[in-house]
Amino acid sequence: MTDSAIAKAKDTLIKNGFLDIDVDPTLVLEDEINRLKKEKNAVILAHYYQEAEIQEIADYVGDSLGLSQMAANTDADMIVFAGVHFMAETAKMLSPEKKVILPDLKAGCSLADSCPAPLFKKFKEKYPEHVVVSYINCTAELKTLTDICCTSTNAVHIIESIPEDKGIIFAPDKNLGLYLEKKTGRDLVLWNGSCMVHEIFSHEKITKLQLQHPDALFIAHPECEPHLLEKADFIGSTSALCKFTQESDATEFIVATEVGIIHEMQRRSPNKIFMPAPPNNTCACNECPHMKRNTMEKLYLAMQYELPEIQLEQWVIDKGTACIDKMLEISAKAGL
Ligand code: 13P
Ligand code: SF4
Repeated sequence: MTDSAIAKAKDTLIKNGFLDIDVDPTLVLEDEINRLKKEKNAVILAHYYQEAEIQEIADYVGDSLGLSQMAANTDADMIVFAGVHFMAETAKMLSPEKKVILPDLKAGCSLADSCPAPLFKKFKEKYPEHVVVSYINCTAELKTLTDICCTSTNAVHIIESIPEDKGIIFAPDKNLGLYLEKKTGRDLVLWNGSCMVHEIFSHEKITKLQLQHPDALFIAHPECEPHLLEKADFIGSTSALCKFTQESDATEFIVATEVGIIHEMQRRSPNKIFMPAPPNNTCACNECPHMKRNTMEKLYLAMQYELPEIQLEQWVIDKGTACIDKMLEISAKAGL
C-alpha cells in the first residue's frame, strides 16, 4: 500500500467512520479475511446479532460476557470486533496493549447513548452511598463512574453479590433493571434508558402469532418491556436463549430479540422452527441498525488497513476497567 493510498483511506474514515474504499469484486472475501487473520495474528470476535456470514468467519461468536472473557484472555496481537462500539471499548480496556479494530466506528448503541456520563454523574450525586451497577452496554466514560459492570448473563449474580443493606443504582437499561428487581426482590434506583430494538416489539402481533402457532414457546431477552416479559415462557441473555432452544423439547419458538440470533439457534437445531417476534412497524423482524453496520467488505478493509482503531484516554482505562474486572471475578466465582 502506498502512502497516498493510506492517506486517502484515512480521509474516508474521518468523513464516514469507516473505510469507504471500493473492494475488488473478484476477491473471495472469506479467503482474504482468513489470510489476514493468519498474517496479522488477529482474532475476530463477533456478537450473535451480526450477519450470518460474519458469524461464520469469526473465531468466536458469543454474548457480551463471553466476548469480554475472550478479549481479556486472547493471545492474538489484534482483536477485530464484529459488534458495536461499547464492546470494542470493553475489549480495549481489558487488553490495552493490543490493537482493537472496529470495522465501523458509527456502530453505536441506543442504550449506551441513552446515558451520557455527565448527566449520570449528576444523577449519581443524589445517592452518594449507593453502589453503581452498570449494564456493559454503556460508554467507557460511564464505566469510570461504575462500581460493578454486568451483562444479561450475570446481572442477577452481580446484584446478589451486593450486601442487602446497600442501595443500588442500576443504569442504563430500565427494562433489565425492572426485571432484576423482580428476580432479586431488591429495590434499584433506575436510570431511564432503553434499547431501540427491544422496545418496539408488538404485543398484539406477537399474540396473533402465538394463536397461529399454539405449540410455539415465546422466548425473550430481558431488555424487552415488562408487559412482554410477563408473557414469556423463558427469559435470558442471547447465550441463554440459544442454550434454551437447543435443550428444550419444544420445536417451535417465537424469538423476541435481534433477529441475527436465529442463525445460531438454527445452526444448533436445524430441524426446529424459529420465528422472529414482529415489531410494531411494517418490518417482519427487528434488526439492530448499529450491529448491522458491519459488513464483510468493512471487515476485510479494517483488517487490511488495521483501521478504524479504538483508542481510549489512559485515565479512562485506569479508572473504567476496575468495574469490568470485578464483574469477571464475580462471574468466574459463579462458574459463568
Ligand atoms: P447479550 O448478548 O449479552 O445478551 O446482550 C444483548 C445485546 O443487546 C447486546 O447489544
Ligand atoms: Fe444496543 Fe440494542 Fe443494538 Fe444491543 S441491540 S447494540 S442494546 S441498540
